[in-house]
Amino acid sequence: MGRRPDWLEEAVFYEIYPQSFKDTDNDGIGNIRGITEKLSYIKELGCNAIWINPCFESPFGDAGYDVSDYYRVAPRYGSNEDLEQLFEEAHKTGIHILLDLVPGHTSWEHPWFKESQKAEKNEYTDRYIWTDSIWESPEGYASLRGISDRDGSCLVNFFTHQPALNYGFYKPDRLWQQSMDSEGARATREEIKNIMRFWLSKGCDGFRVDMAGSLVKNDEESRGTIALWQDIRGFLDKEFPEAVLISEWGEPDKSIEAGFHMDFLLHFGPSHYNDLFRCDDPFFGGKGDASEFVKKYLESCAKADNKGYICIPSGNHDMDRLAKYIKGDRAKMAFAFLLSMPGAPYIYYGDEIGMRYVEGLTSVEGGYNRTGSRSPMQWNSEKNAGFSGGDENSLYIPLDPDKDRPDVEKQLTDPGSLLNEVKKLISVRRSYRALMNSGEIKFVCDGEEGKPLIYIRSYDGERIIVALNPTDREYKMENTDVKELIYVLGDEPDMTDGKLLLKPGSAFFAII
Ligand code: NOJ
Repeated sequence: MGRRPDWLEEAVFYEIYPQSFKDTDNDGIGNIRGITEKLSYIKELGCNAIWINPCFESPFGDAGYDVSDYYRVAPRYGSNEDLEQLFEEAHKTGIHILLDLVPGHTSWEHPWFKESQKAEKNEYTDRYIWTDSIWESPEGYASLRGISDRDGSCLVNFFTHQPALNYGFYKPDRLWQQSMDSEGARATREEIKNIMRFWLSKGCDGFRVDMAGSLVKNDEESRGTIALWQDIRGFLDKEFPEAVLISEWGEPDKSIEAGFHMDFLLHFGPSHYNDLFRCDDPFFGGKGDASEFVKKYLESCAKADNKGYICIPSGNHDMDRLAKYIKGDRAKMAFAFLLSMPGAPYIYYGDEIGMRYVEGLTSVEGGYNRTGSRSPMQWNSEKNAGFSGGDENSLYIPLDPDKDRPDVEKQLTDPGSLLNEVKKLISVRRSYRALMNSGEIKFVCDGEEGKPLIYIRSYDGERIIVALNPTDREYKMENTDVKELIYVLGDEPDMTDGKLLLKPGSAFFAII
């Protein structure tokens, strides 16, 4: 992997789902200019980096994860120039921007796919993965069949309208399975480099990579996909050494070796962290158990071997909103955790004000159950919560109908709000190297049922203890010599007579 750019050390990311963030032209859908307009909000929150979900031309059968032109911003979001201007304005305020790269598949409306469906051989014949005969389906994968003059079934990656791009098979064992070195697979790889080159040279700072671990097929141990990304990282190191990559992979042992600076823990897969936030009894709900998470997290750390960050997002556009499970003040403790862990924190837009998961919505653009986590940002108590000046019925997704829905304006003026707590936590994090992204972590208490989660973050002699007690029991901490409390939530710990009692429903950070 290339060098890790210095700014990543204190990076705190904000994820923006562009359709739902801020609409400046009153068509009911968010746009790039809306993001530019809200840069100062993101800056004041304390974030210095943004990940924007796909904003490229697309028929939007999967909210833009079905690209039909990688080189053009979707007109509903504005123009390429708007995006370039966003990069420029963001950089002026010290904010970095990652775009979302979807290298695994395109929309079936992409011109490449239209060409690939033709019976006559052409430049795009091998851009996707086709069997030789319509009567043969690719084993273990879904496929598109009977849709073209071309004979064969075409492998799909996710929804039916998302045919998989051809990066080859790790060990081809059928005639139609091409190797990673085949001409078609190499051409796809080069095209992905071109797309990266295009946006990096326009000023973006890197990419969040969709389904990064699934590009090469029949690749059980991911050796092929790892090699592919190492090659791409090699190209970046030569041409754009500062370009940052984060993977949607959820297996840091693989992604970091592949050359990613960071990988996410996800709500699925081997390293999921649902026990903390998204299950019947989540740890931060007060009755759950964090010990299984701690065990798995430490395994992931060992595998990542300090070479890259493991990032724990507050949520994302695929998960239920945090607020669905963690209510009220407990959300503050959840953020005290998210903003004191190693790796770069990622705040999903609206989580910082406790936006709710909106129940009962009809699916929008392939969102299905995810639609409730994608509703418009709530800026104020004016029309459409300040998201759009357009007609209420034109909104991309209906607003949270709750009359007490949280909004930014209200929370900014309330010193006890979640928003102000998140701001405070980010500022504490960014004041101590030990709390930043590459400070070490050692768990002191693993949050098994009825117990708190306690860990020590350290960097170069600076040591900070983080104690989080969402339970309703007091906890006596052993051998902790507190020098200075730097953050307290709820009741202060009782430190009289040399003891240290962590109060129920409270948290603190202290220099030790
Ligand atoms: C993961 C993305 O986060 C999700 O929203 C999308 O539907 C799938 N990948 C397919 O691209």
